[in-house]
Amino acid sequence: MDILQSLDKNKMPKHIAIIMDGNGRWAKEQGQDRLYGHYEGVRSVRDIVDACGELGISYLTLYAFSTENWNRPKEEVDALMELLVNTIRKEADELMKNNVRMHVIGDFKSLPAICQKELSEAMDMMANNTGLNLVLALSYSSRWEIVDAAKKMVADALAGKLKQEDIDDKVFHNYLNTASFPDPELMIRTSGEYRISNYLLYQLAYAELYFTPVHWPAFRRQNLYEAILNYQQRERRFGKTSEQIQTNTTQHV
Ligand code: IPE
Ligand code: IPE
Ligand code: MG
Repeated sequence: MDILQSLDKNKMPKHIAIIMDGNGRWAKEQGQDRLYGHYEGVRSVRDIVDACGELGISYLTLYAFSTENWNRPKEEVDALMELLVNTIRKEADELMKNNVRMHVIGDFKSLPAICQKELSEAMDMMANNTGLNLVLALSYSSRWEIVDAAKKMVADALAGKLKQEDIDDKVFHNYLNTASFPDPELMIRTSGEYRISNYLLYQLAYAELYFTPVHWPAFRRQNLYEAILNYQQRERRFGKTSEQIQTNTTQHV
C-alpha cells in the first residue's frame, strides 16, 4: 500500500527538523569521495523540500552545516560552501515558483561573504512567499545559539529593556534564532547515528525523534512518509498519563 495514502492529513506535523547525515559514508559505499556524497545529498534536499511543500508542512529545518563542521579538512569546508552558493543560485527560481520562503539560523556572519550575499538575496526575493518555510541551519549549533541568546538578554537587561522577573519560557524563546518558528514536532536523523549533535536542543524538548539507517543521499520522499507515519502512530503525552490523553483528546496539550 502506498504510504502516502495512509497518512492522516489532520495529524501532520507543522514543523519537521532533519539532521541530514551520512553523505560521506554513502559516497564511500559507492567507491567515491566524500564530496560526491554532498553533491548527491542536494538531490535529496530537493525531493524532501518538494514533498514537504506538497504535504502542506509549514516549516522544514535542515541541519546543513554545524559550528563543529568548521573543523573538517579545509578542502571539504570550501567545497561545502561552494556547493551552498551554487545550489542557492540554481534552485532559487524553482523555490520561488513553489512559494517557498527561505530563512537561515546560525552564525550568519561567520559564513564566507559570497554565501552571505547569495543567501541574503534569495531570502529577500522569497520574503513575501506564503508556502513552506525552509529554514537552513548554517554554521549553527544549539550551544552557540543559547549563549548568543544569553548575551542579547544581558544587553537588553543592562539597557533597561528587559526585567529579570519578566523572563519566562516564551521570552527566552524570543531571543533564540528560531524566535518566529514553532518548535519541531518531529526530528529525523538519517544514517544510523543516535545523537543530536548540538541541534535545536531547546526546541526539541518535546519533539518525537526518528532515526533511520538510510544515508541522506538515499533518503527520498517515501522515507519521509514513513517517518511521518511513524510519528502519527505515537502517543504524545507531554508529561500527562495515557488515560488523560485518551479521555480528553480535545484538551490542549
Ligand atoms: C552530513 O554528512 C553532511 C554534513 C555534515 C555537512 P557527513 O558529511 O557528516 O557524512 P558522514 O556522517 O561522514 O558519513
Ligand atoms: C551533524 O552531522 C551536522 C550536520 C548534519 C550538518 P555530523 O556528521 O557533523 O555530526 P557528528 O559529528 O556525527 O555528531
Ligand atoms: Mg556525519
